[in-house]
Amino acid sequence: MSDEQATTTDATSEAQALAARNDNRSQRPDSSAFREFITSGWAPRDTQTPEQGEFAPYTAVRRSALSARFPGTRLVIPAGAFKVRSNDTDYRFRPHSAFAHLTGLGTDQEPDAVLVLHPLPVEGHEAVLYFRPLAPRDSTEFYSDSRYGEFWVGARPSLEDVAALTGIQTAHLDELADALAKDVGADGLRIALLDDVDAAVDAIVAEVRAQADLVDSAQLDATLAEAVSELRLIKDAYEIEQMRAAVDASIAGFEHVVRALGRAVAHARGERVVETVFEAHARLEGNTVGYDTIAAAGEHATTLHWIRNDGEVRPGEMLLLDAGVEVESLYTADVTRTLPVDGTFTEVQRKVYQAVLDAADAAFAVAVPGKNFRDVHAAAMEVIADRLASWGLLPGTAEESLAPEGQQHRRWMVHGTSHHLGIDVHDCAQARREMYLDATIEPGMVFTIEPGLYFKADDLTIPAELRGIGVRIEDDVLITADGNENLSAALPRRPDEVEAWMASLR
Ligand code: GLY
Ligand code: MN
Ligand code: MN
Repeated sequence: MSDEQATTTDATSEAQALAARNDNRSQRPDSSAFREFITSGWAPRDTQTPEQGEFAPYTAVRRSALSARFPGTRLVIPAGAFKVRSNDTDYRFRPHSAFAHLTGLGTDQEPDAVLVLHPLPVEGHEAVLYFRPLAPRDSTEFYSDSRYGEFWVGARPSLEDVAALTGIQTAHLDELADALAKDVGADGLRIALLDDVDAAVDAIVAEVRAQADLVDSAQLDATLAEAVSELRLIKDAYEIEQMRAAVDASIAGFEHVVRALGRAVAHARGERVVETVFEAHARLEGNTVGYDTIAAAGEHATTLHWIRNDGEVRPGEMLLLDAGVEVESLYTADVTRTLPVDGTFTEVQRKVYQAVLDAADAAFAVAVPGKNFRDVHAAAMEVIADRLASWGLLPGTAEESLAPEGQQHRRWMVHGTSHHLGIDVHDCAQARREMYLDATIEPGMVFTIEPGLYFKADDLTIPAELRGIGVRIEDDVLITADGNENLSAALPRRPDEVEAWMASLR
């Protein structure tokens, strides 16, 4: 299936612009008889509008919180545009996470859309969602536009549909440029943009600012990026429900993988069996995976982001599976289990596994309101350093390694222990340091606890029995009023329970 845009007959190949050469394959008819015929004779459209989304009351509260931080400033939050994969084929569309969070729109909704919060005269903002609504059937777009046309990508919603679904006023994308320019500069009205999301919107805002002599808005834009990221640090009830759904779907995906381990062992690229079993489940039960699956068997588990997944899965070794289902609202889980391929840990595998588990348990113990986010990592590192010292791997004591000028234990765990989780797998990444790393833990936060130990096969500082072993255990934790809840607790993590669970599935 290919895009066959109407072509000009006098285009000779050498002189033709590169961009236009995509059209050289076109054989689409261009006669008026064809156009009249294809744009007529269609049944009336279904006029039933959708019900308001369950998310709508929550997104309204989020927009109000953002509004309060930017009085008198027009806020521009684009969904983003299609990204070209190659030539005239695009990647599947995914809206920017801030746009999804503030509108409730998920999956593939809605390319080129822009949420604008227009400041009201006294206080607050009025939200308007600008997007490209369904085109009429007598338009050429209807049948000839491979990027937007109904024949090619299906019918888009109408302005009324999206207004009903989101509870947000809607307007045609054609009105965006004028709406953004209106009164900017007058009475101190400023415009803040979530930039680098949609180049076309960046250009419109740059022009508006130039016309109004507004220079140096970079700080304002950075503050908006920070604000929309920080807005997601505390999850509301709807978000927590979505996170539970994502984690539960992911746990089911891990079960499918365990059932498929025999097939994985039998295949030359067993890691791909693991990857595709999980990802098939993610597509069937959710939107997709929240990040590229890490299906790392044997020594590959020591490569932190092993996503090539083309290796064998061998009995006697372990499989590190780091995978998460992203649900339709775009919330994702991020879960890791390290499993003995044949269902039973060896003694040395169990020793490493238990050390990582103890580090995770220590981290869980301090992942409570009032503690500092940093304390979670520190607690895990104390256990990791202690175990490495007791195995004689550190050049000095555990205490010396834990000191800032030491840190030798990090040779075997170079990553952090925790990150916020939500619509982005590494959620809230633009939050200020004092709101993230240096923040006090609060109820409603959702983050991972994921210590690990990774002993590379060519590491000459460790005994041979450890070489090629990588273990990570990753859970998704919700901070509650008086402690925490491990959202992924239903996926066994203690070695005996892992073995029993695997046996029950095979
Ligand atoms: N799956 C990526 C991470 O654990 O952060
Ligand atoms: Mn993670
Ligand atoms: Mn992970």
